[in-house]
Amino acid sequence: MHLKLKDKTCIVTGATSGMGKAIAISFHKAGANLILSGRNEERGNLLAQKIENSIFLAGDISEPKYNKRLVETAIENFGKLDIVSVNAGILGLGNVIDLSVDDWHITLNTNLSSIFYISKYAIPFLEKTKGNILINASIAAYKSFPNHPAYCASKAGSVSLMKQMAVDYAPNIRVNAICPGPVDTPLIWDSAKAFKNPELAVENAGKATLLKRLGKPEDIASLALFLVSEDASWITGTAMNIDGGILNT
Ligand SMILES: NC(=O)c1ccc[n+]([C@@H]2O[C@H](COP(=O)([O-])OP(=O)(O)OC[C@H]3O[C@@H](n4cnc5c(N)ncnc54)[C@H](O)[C@@H]3O)[C@@H](O)[C@H]2O)c1
Repeated sequence: MHLKLKDKTCIVTGATSGMGKAIAISFHKAGANLILSGRNEERGNLLAQKIENSIFLAGDISEPKYNKRLVETAIENFGKLDIVSVNAGILGLGNVIDLSVDDWHITLNTNLSSIFYISKYAIPFLEKTKGNILINASIAAYKSFPNHPAYCASKAGSVSLMKQMAVDYAPNIRVNAICPGPVDTPLIWDSAKAFKNPELAVENAGKATLLKRLGKPEDIASLALFLVSEDASWITGTAMNIDGGILNT
């Protein structure tokens, strides 16, 4: 079997649940050494026990120092850094009037500023390995949803930051994004709380796609593995939709 990420060192944020966890498992199966990032110590330590050659480091991704520590942990333990897969994200629900100024900042810091922080510390090491960064954005970068102004703005900003870094760090570093549609993770159930009937809202989100189902975290992990691997060596500055066709409806 060809191990696409053999001997690669990868940081995966948001690794303790949903898409980040599926991505971490698929990178591991492809042969990678992993630095797993997340807030939940119990879930993170359990995952690290199951995944050989992985280290879990708990912390808040909206703190610059924690991002620096993630990069240092990769270098100290594996001697290099090849890939950063950014998945941590929150919703920050509420329209502009209802959302507090604090929650606006927390959402932007978690979803967008954190990408600036980890990239800032990772890029000098990615330059050495000709590595890459993959950002989990969202179709919310292009499409608005009721009561999601902070989320949508942060995702549009993530795609813009991705393109900027692709320009600034070519040809050595590739930077791409994936833009998932509705995927069955804890986050979509939180998002559904903005609707009167959350279960129906989640069900309808799946039905609204051309392919008539919610995405699975593993669907996203397949695309992530392709984009960070050598198979995608001529792809940079791209935000790739993976949405069951919902943007085409
Ligand atoms: N589920 C969807 O339908 C959907 C669609 C498009 C994009 N996304 C994006 O995919 C990414 C992964 O989300 P998911 O759907 O797998 O949901 P999820 O809630 O399972 O995963 C999000 C992860 O981010 C972590 N996280 C949040 N805030 C953090 C912080 N301050 N510090 C450290 N970790 C933090 C959480 O602990 C969690 O592990 C997110 O960026 C989300 O915006 C989700």
